[in-house]
Amino acid sequence: MGSKNKLKRFRENETFSNVFQPTREELVDSQFNLKGLWNEIVFKNNNPLVLELGCGKGEYSVELAKKYPEKNFIGIDIKGARFWRGAKTAIEESIPNVAFLRTQIELIDHAFGKAEVDEIWITFPDPQIKYKRTKHRMTNSEFLKRYKTILKSEGVVNLKTDSEFMHGYTLGLLHGGGHEVLYANHNVYKQEGSPEEVTSIQTYYESQYLEQNKPITYIRFKIK
Ligand SMILES: C[S@@+](CC[C@H](N)C(=O)[O-])C[C@H]1O[C@@H](n2cnc3c(N)ncnc32)[C@H](O)[C@@H]1O
Repeated sequence: MGSKNKLKRFRENETFSNVFQPTREELVDSQFNLKGLWNEIVFKNNNPLVLELGCGKGEYSVELAKKYPEKNFIGIDIKGARFWRGAKTAIEESIPNVAFLRTQIELIDHAFGKAEVDEIWITFPDPQIKYKRTKHRMTNSEFLKRYKTILKSEGVVNLKTDSEFMHGYTLGLLHGGGHEVLYANHNVYKQEGSPEEVTSIQTYYESQYLEQNKPITYIRFKIK
């Protein structure tokens, strides 16, 4: 995408009522005004709150929001020019129960209060295969600790990925850490039993992997 186009999207994001872009300082140094209050201030209801981490263009957030009007969804990514697509679609189609937050996932526990979140989706995260990149892997134990803080006690995490490495790494870590794997599937379109919401929505990255005939994997788990 050209830089002119990106700038246009950044400017448009500023005007969207469903886009939130706190600075690092606002999140870390002061109490972020939406922390613990997303439902009250943004969605104005008390419905379950679902996050999509590394949402890219936001396909999952938008499609789940349409499917489940009685839940609230927030797509989170550091790249505003990407989630501009989802935010714009939500505005054009008047979908009230989806919003987008521009931040680093590392700061997630500054953006949400304790036990504020019911469910998390992690869709096609960069697998960060090199050992030196372990700390950036979105299911490493440090990230799981942050997710646990913001999740309700019964809260669940969904991981959908094309990366066998990420799938295996996460399963190993979950078993080793005494977490609860509720469901795992190493080829969701071939192996029976995948939940409908796993096979009925494809993200931008996913459609590219499907064209290459890559198996798509899925894990649903609880953090102990
Ligand atoms: C491989 S893309 C997948 C995007 C989308 N989920 C999809 O399936 O099309 C990974 C996304 O995660 C975002 N991302 C990676 N690390 C991040 C971090 N630490 N904080 C916030 N976003 C991050 C990237 O900007 C990118 O949009």
